[in-house]
Amino acid sequence: MAAFVVAVLVCLLPCLQASLPVMETVNLTQINDWGNKFEGMLLFPMKENVYGWEVTIQFNYPVVLQHNQAVTTIYHVSSDKKTYVLLNKLSDGGIQVNDTRSLTIIGQYSRMTSDPPIAATATFVNLVHDGQVAPSIPPAVATEKYNYAEVLEKSILFYEAQRSGKLPPTNRIPWRGDSALTDHGQNGEDLSGGWYDAGDHLKFGYPQAGTVSMLAWGLIEFKDAYEATGQLDNMYDCIRWPLEWLMKTHTARNEIYVQIGDGDLDHHFWGRAEDMNMARPSYKITADNPGSDVAAEYAAAMAAGYIAFKEKDPAFAAELLRHAKEVYAFALEYNGTYTSSLPKSAAQFYGSSDYDDEMCWGGAWLYKATGEEKYLTNSKNYHHPGNSWGQSWGNKDIGCKVLLHNITGEAKYATDITGTFRDWMPGGTIPYLSNGLVLRNAWGSLRHSANMAFIALVAAEYGLHTDAYRSWAKSQIHVALGDSGRSFVVGFGVNPPSHPHHRSSSCPMMPAPCSQEALSRPGPNPHTLYGGLVGGPSKEGSYQDNRQDYQQNEVAVDYNAGFQSAVAGLKHLSITGQL
Ligand SMILES: *[C@@H]1O[C@H](CO)[C@@H](O)[C@H](O)[C@H]1NC(C)=O
Ligand SMILES: *[C@@H]1O[C@H](CO)[C@@H](O)[C@H](O)[C@H]1NC(C)=O
Ligand SMILES: *[C@@H]1O[C@H](CO)[C@@H](O)[C@H](O)[C@H]1NC(C)=O
Ligand SMILES: *[C@@H]1O[C@H](CO)[C@@H](O)[C@H](O)[C@H]1NC(C)=O
Repeated sequence: MAAFVVAVLVCLLPCLQASLPVMETVNLTQINDWGNKFEGMLLFPMKENVYGWEVTIQFNYPVVLQHNQAVTTIYHVSSDKKTYVLLNKLSDGGIQVNDTRSLTIIGQYSRMTSDPPIAATATFVNLVHDGQVAPSIPPAVATEKYNYAEVLEKSILFYEAQRSGKLPPTNRIPWRGDSALTDHGQNGEDLSGGWYDAGDHLKFGYPQAGTVSMLAWGLIEFKDAYEATGQLDNMYDCIRWPLEWLMKTHTARNEIYVQIGDGDLDHHFWGRAEDMNMARPSYKITADNPGSDVAAEYAAAMAAGYIAFKEKDPAFAAELLRHAKEVYAFALEYNGTYTSSLPKSAAQFYGSSDYDDEMCWGGAWLYKATGEEKYLTNSKNYHHPGNSWGQSWGNKDIGCKVLLHNITGEAKYATDITGTFRDWMPGGTIPYLSNGLVLRNAWGSLRHSANMAFIALVAAEYGLHTDAYRSWAKSQIHVALGDSGRSFVVGFGVNPPSHPHHRSSSCPMMPAPCSQEALSRPGPNPHTLYGGLVGGPSKEGSYQDNRQDYQQNEVAVDYNAGFQSAVAGLKHLSITGQL
């Protein structure tokens, strides 16, 4: 009972930071006390750089505080008026180490002349701290140059930090809370949940589903890696979150929501997801405004999800498969690109020029899930012979070829896969940076290399150029992990990025105010966005850990997808003695 009362009392104050360390405790000094009115000073010496702060004052009498409006706001007053919580205003969130923050405290109260004078004790909490415990580092394995188990653990944490909606009690990210709970469809359907796309707070179905397909494929092929590293349950939770959202967005047989949030409104807001208050319109495809690309990608994600979950959770898997079949039928019957159906929304961010690659890929996944011949026929009908550009959120051509090779064993697929990797590997048509990274595209250069590293590991698994593909994949992933002298994964390895272009992690702890100033402030992001793979080097090979550079230093759900699955592939090779 006592413990319960304490917990309730603590939670009258902001619960989220109940455990944050107090930097300084001081008494009210320089007091002038008139018996009914007083003034005094709180002088806090700064022991560290402060970003966002909170002062809790405990008086010995009930007090009506006339606080300094310029510097703080009153965040909380206890019902007995003896306890006040003050919060910094936006303009005064940052304080340098060794400075003294002085607060003039003026208040009214009443006492008898014989009573003791007014007194107060105040604590100062630096909201740059978030109470997040650094994940424990799994034991290193001598034959692994980088700790793959640690990367898997952290990459899954990155996806946890991208969660939108009502967070479960198992949430491991202390600086994230419930957000965007009212996301809804045009008839009020609940569309909360899913992942925020990148450093922003839009939810885009097309890249989100593409991410799930790649992650589920990695889990299917390299489950032993997740098992051996103790991450299997975390990994199931990781992909279940967006899979549940994908099912929600399928609101009628021929209707799928593909975007939540307006790109301009969202991008003009710099702050936490928990603090958003702009309109969040929703966008859907229908029979009249079809999108075979996005519908077939949803089908791929849910069919791959079915395979991943069919033993673990058969009921959930069956639901996934039902939705996958329906959305694929929708994609087939009402053809078109979602870019032409929704030219003013997702098209500007994740445009799609054709849907053949997703029809091929979705059909192949449904064939793998069901064994039904018609899906294989569909997949083959949409397959384009020849070398592929690569694998990305918008292009699944090579992924489909690898699946068709796996399913049919026909030589023509092997020929095109081999041709594609001839383009990609050193001496091919795609340039390389001096650090060894293949440069398909300078915006998010690392994810393109990581996606193909994963495809190479799967092709190798299916018996194609096994040694060459494995060693090439390893070289690409090792650039991301540190081979150029630095890590490109937040919170991992040597000199990792600490200023990712990511709104929520750039803010101090709730409830400190946060806005545009967080984008340009010089210090590292207050919260470590463990596991986020940043965009990476420019086409000249340069890289700056600069929060304002969204090409080199943003993170995104699709960036980590092939990357995490490739790391699982390397861990699989390590476990099986083939690294
Ligand atoms: C605050 O005042 C109390 C009571 O007078 C005293 O015991 C304590 O040492 C003071 N603390 C500081 C930091 O001056
Ligand atoms: C803060 O003060 C300490 C102790 O005097 C000193 O060692 C340190 O260099 C100072 N830091 C800065 C940034 O001035
Ligand atoms: C839809 O499919 C039909 C039949 O294959 C084709 O003639 C038509 O061009 C397609 N429409 C679009 C928008 O791709
Ligand atoms: C096809 O992929 C599955 C796993 O998804 C694998 O077990 C099987 O061996 C592969 N078949 C071929 C021919 O590569």
